[in-house]
Amino acid sequence: MNKITVESPSNIALIKYWGKFGKQFPRNPSLSFTLSKAKTILTLEVAKKNNQDEVVDLEFTFAGKSNDKFKAKMVKFLLEEKIHFDHLLQHKIIIHSENTFPHSSGIASSASSMSAFVFAALKLEFTLSGSQDFSDENFLNKASSLSRIASGSASRSLFSGLALWGDYEKIGNNDWAVGVEHLVDPRFKNFRDAIVIVSAEEKAVSSRAGHALMDHHPYREVRFSTARERLSQLLLAMKNYDLETFIKIVETEALDLHSLMMTSDPSFILLEPKTLEVIKLLRNFRLTHQIPVCFTLDAGPNLHVLYPAEFSEAVDTFLLSLNLPIINDQVGFGTTVVSSDN
Ligand code: PMV
Repeated sequence: MNKITVESPSNIALIKYWGKFGKQFPRNPSLSFTLSKAKTILTLEVAKKNNQDEVVDLEFTFAGKSNDKFKAKMVKFLLEEKIHFDHLLQHKIIIHSENTFPHSSGIASSASSMSAFVFAALKLEFTLSGSQDFSDENFLNKASSLSRIASGSASRSLFSGLALWGDYEKIGNNDWAVGVEHLVDPRFKNFRDAIVIVSAEEKAVSSRAGHALMDHHPYREVRFSTARERLSQLLLAMKNYDLETFIKIVETEALDLHSLMMTSDPSFILLEPKTLEVIKLLRNFRLTHQIPVCFTLDAGPNLHVLYPAEFSEAVDTFLLSLNLPIINDQVGFGTTVVSSDN
């Protein structure tokens, strides 16, 4: 195999990863829905290397144009992790990548793009090395672990439905994420995520700087233990399809993330007045129509509105009334190979 095309989705955390240590290990375990439509499509191809002295010979285009920022990230990753890509690095690597969602939509693109890149690079590495002795599970563990190093939350994008990353009982570990949809009610596979774009501006704080805010945060210990307790409560609620508890935990977790940012030094306020307005409207809609719909937030002002598919008609009407751009997504299947040349 000399060429492979993969698709990898973004994910949205229900229990947030916020704070890290060492080589991109999380301070607390996190849990996320894997998305479906918001994804990266990436083709990786190998050709004859021009200069054998150069460790990484990489050509990269994003949406048909060269992109030095992305390229530098990939080169840095391959240099640091070169022991895992021995065979791949003996070739020139040509990558074409594109996202199905607009760059300015506020959807974290590093989760989908980095997981797509690592998955494709590792698949090709395994094929070029002629290694036969890897199971699907071993491959996924390694792909998730290396995705984690490239961009923490990318470790969770590989798995269908629901992924857990971080030390947690006998289920999760800090090194790689695991798929946990079998632990919850199957109806969560039909959950929708409508992303309400309140602002399409670039994030005011990078996630690297955001995680660093937790290093000296006065509430850090409480935060890390609370997130862990919430994860147990949420998994139980999801197992029992207890949507009332699900809603309570998911919304509190989103607001906690933003409260932590507001009380950090330096302090960041990433919520916009419009975000709060939509939250109030959504809560009011939930109460008056008795529909199990809730929101979560990333490190930005846009809302992810989560609800079971059977309530789509009513929720769509509500969302339309907001008069804001919406990206309609749903729970999906994780990273997949689209095609390869053998
Ligand atoms: O993966 P990073 O370093 O971009 O951090 C992601 C942080 C949050 O999106 C706010 C939470 C999460 O768990 O995805």
